[in-house]
Amino acid sequence: MPVRINPSILAADFANFERELGRIGTADLVHVDIMDNHFVPNLTFGPAMAERLQELSTIPLDVHLMIDDPDRWAPSYAELGAYSVTFHAEAAADAVKLARRLRDIGARAGIALKPDTPVEPFLDLLPEFDQVLVMTVEPGFGGQSFIASTMPKLVLLRDAVKRTGLDVWLQVDGGITEDTIVVAAEAGADTFVAGSSVFRGDPADNIAALRAAAEAHVH
Ligand code: DX5
Ligand code: ZN
Repeated sequence: MPVRINPSILAADFANFERELGRIGTADLVHVDIMDNHFVPNLTFGPAMAERLQELSTIPLDVHLMIDDPDRWAPSYAELGAYSVTFHAEAAADAVKLARRLRDIGARAGIALKPDTPVEPFLDLLPEFDQVLVMTVEPGFGGQSFIASTMPKLVLLRDAVKRTGLDVWLQVDGGITEDTIVVAAEAGADTFVAGSSVFRGDPADNIAALRAAAEAHVH
């Protein structure tokens, strides 16, 4: 199974995004964290910056919306050309309706689950999504430690994806390092977001090391 390594530009130099994008040319997608200081206690930027990143990046954008009322705001990220738009289950009023809208616009639709949000209610809804993001830290900040107790959710998701034969990507985000990526790959993840462990040091080397570790353990 192919693995995808998506660097999170939350860990990049915010004053030099153009240069930072140039350092992650071997990535599969660029993970763009949108935080509104309501759904999470941190603030990044909105659609205007995402649109500029979309213009500058040679790699497709993987937008992660940590915002209230995604039903209202998520479609604008699909409209600006993001490859995937992932919103939080805890924030959406009608997740299935929103996912259908995102797909209609032409984006891949993703649903994200905070560490304490159970996955069971979403297993029957998998055909509605292109990606499920299992948060492996509490959303809001980079540089936190991986929460291993989230892994049973991936096991359930991988079983469901195998059983149904659907092409749903299983993503993890938060505390992903060369060590924890192995744990997540073994549990069933195939798409890995990494912020600090990519941008600390040489991003190309770090992406290669993460990819090698994941490929050796993905099912
Ligand atoms: C956290 C964000 C992550 C963050 C991960 O809420 O969703 O994408 O950038 O950062 P690291 O890899 O440093 O844990
Ligand atoms: Zn993220």
